[in-house]
Amino acid sequence: MSAVGVFDSGLGGLTAVSAIRRRLPHQDIIYLGDTARVPYGGRGREVITRFALANARFLFGYDISTLVIACGTVSTVALDELTRISPIPVLGVVEPACTQAVRATRNKRVGLIATKASVSSNAYERGIARLDSEIKVFGVPCPLFVPLVENGRFNRGDTVIETVAAEYLAPLKAAGVDTLILGCTHYPLLTDVIADYMGDGVTLINSGEAVAETLESVAEKSDKKGKEKFLVTDDEEKFWELAKILLRDTTIGLVERVDIGGI
Ligand code: DGL
Repeated sequence: MSAVGVFDSGLGGLTAVSAIRRRLPHQDIIYLGDTARVPYGGRGREVITRFALANARFLFGYDISTLVIACGTVSTVALDELTRISPIPVLGVVEPACTQAVRATRNKRVGLIATKASVSSNAYERGIARLDSEIKVFGVPCPLFVPLVENGRFNRGDTVIETVAAEYLAPLKAAGVDTLILGCTHYPLLTDVIADYMGDGVTLINSGEAVAETLESVAEKSDKKGKEKFLVTDDEEKFWELAKILLRDTTIGLVERVDIGGI
């Protein structure tokens, strides 16, 4: 059985890997984190699309049967382009996250936090409107979240991340959303911090978990134990240290540094 190719700009897509491992333990996974060029979210469409195409083409060199874009930014900006050039099925995070949000909301007020590129694309608004046009979406870009997470600043009790989160989330709390899409795959690492601020009445939608749910519905099943390969475009040691924490797994295999060209 072929592997699933998963990519993100950095570590964030590991939230999808962790969900895929839990739902599909037999699944082989090849993960590419473009750590040399993270963060993507403040860049323009053309550059994000170019990076996304380079990542996808690199992964097409492996035996993969599905490409999972475990990056909200690439999913909102370059899904159509990737689908057009891909010889295999492509899954982004937007549609799965919108499906879960529409299922969860009771008051039809849904918050969205994501990168600047994702929020200004309006992709989540369009995805939700296709499912339920009565739902109002409140989007807030959170440009400091990805760099903080990439630097390991995601834990409850860290005053820097808690202060930044309070500033970003205040308008969403004031808007009375009952559901909040974590539209960037780095953000589930901030679940404790975000949930503490938003309170019990707000359901958080993890876009990495959502795409894993969609993958589960189409993937083949088997009894074997899946293998994983982690590839990064910059320092493998730093990625490995954080990946162990994020995946709650000290046994993760070696991380390999690769040159995907164009940097
Ligand atoms: N995990 C990426 C996302 O889901 C982070 C984007 C970035 O690199 O800024 O949007």
